[in-house]
Amino acid sequence: MSKIEPIQSLRGMRNILPPESSKLFILKQIIAETLQQFGYQPWEIPVLEKTALFKRSIGEETDVVSKEMYTFNDRNDESITLRPEATAGVVRTMIEEGLLQQPQRLYVEGPMFRYERPQKGRYRQFTQISVEAFGFDDPALDAELIFIGAKLFERLGFLDQVQLEYNTIGTLEERREYQKALVIYLRQHIESLDEDSVRRLETNPLRILDSKNPQVQKVLDDAPVLDDFLGEASQEHFSRVCALLDELGIAYQRNKRLVRGLDYYNHSVFEWTTDALGAQGTICAGGRYDALVEQLGGKPTPAAGFAFGIDRILLLAEQQGQIKPESVLAYGIALGVEQQAPMMDLCARLRQQLNMKVVFHPQNQSMKAQMKKADQSGAIFAMIMGDGERAEGVVTLKNLRTGEQTQHSEAGLVEVLQGVEND
Ligand code: HAM
Repeated sequence: MSKIEPIQSLRGMRNILPPESSKLFILKQIIAETLQQFGYQPWEIPVLEKTALFKRSIGEETDVVSKEMYTFNDRNDESITLRPEATAGVVRTMIEEGLLQQPQRLYVEGPMFRYERPQKGRYRQFTQISVEAFGFDDPALDAELIFIGAKLFERLGFLDQVQLEYNTIGTLEERREYQKALVIYLRQHIESLDEDSVRRLETNPLRILDSKNPQVQKVLDDAPVLDDFLGEASQEHFSRVCALLDELGIAYQRNKRLVRGLDYYNHSVFEWTTDALGAQGTICAGGRYDALVEQLGGKPTPAAGFAFGIDRILLLAEQQGQIKPESVLAYGIALGVEQQAPMMDLCARLRQQLNMKVVFHPQNQSMKAQMKKADQSGAIFAMIMGDGERAEGVVTLKNLRTGEQTQHSEAGLVEVLQGVEND
């Protein structure tokens, strides 16, 4: 018989298994809880959208749209795309559901898809929690979005491992004028630009500011600066955000070359980065996008947001050892089939009373085989019920860390388990 070849997962798509998956679950819970405390509500929106949505919002010339999207024709020959990010879909939903009359604060958690070269911290399917707010034009909202990140990183214990980069990119009109001046300057130095930058000169000149090439950076040292093209309103918005960050005690670096890879931003743009993860150090990024709602067919509505890169935040939190899944408190062993239902019932009552992990062994096996499974589960205690215990109305409790064995009534059992510090 010929051997059947197993089918492998796609490149850049991960299976996330315990214990990492348990930590991921806790991390998402902490973030969701924090966001809800700030008044942001969870939204669920589709993973698939019409391709035109991303082209019109993120921009045709961006790397994301021109190189990285998973775009297919469906059975009806319509071009559809697996979302590379959530902001465009959120704005589509705002317009479609008629939600623009009232301010909205929301978040979307879920998988995003980009056909990038996979490496540590960069995957083709990855998870974002995208946080968005509509209807607030005040710089206080920009500051709040940054404040949420700071508070969360503080709670996760790695605020000292991250830096905040902040910049203003003004309005679309100001940027257009600046772009003209930048292109004139860069054309004069075209021989010092690399291939990528020469291509961007035609497609997306502002992205040249992001170039990692030292020679290009050197050319940029004498290039026109966007600050000189900002009008009074833009300057005011920027200084107000800075003042708020100062008052809130949030340290930031002004990075005048931060422009972001998506076209929809104006005024504030920011990125939280870390040196602890190697090349993929941006764990969270966003900014204001006041023109996007109108660009997608809605009435003009101020908006801003950012997204947590959950895969990278998990890597960082794991390095810090901050996220510890709760271990199993007790493992229920039934000796003989007659004890199975009573043990299942007991486990259920304990879970309810203690709100902790209590696991039942679902196999009628010898004491030795079941104890082995109890040890492997990482449980602190084994609870054993055989004929003798059942007759006396007690349970034998074995502390798997010390080996100590005692017998208790159900009330006594609850008391002992309640007193345990779970780690
Ligand atoms: P973005 O900068 O493209 O922004 O992505 C935000 C974050 O998602 C990044 O900082 C990074 O942590 C994570 N990320 C992006 N690509 C990958 C990947 N291939 N693998 C792992 N993580 C990745 C946006 O997507 C905007 N929609 C953010 C936003 C929301 N702006 C306003 N509202």
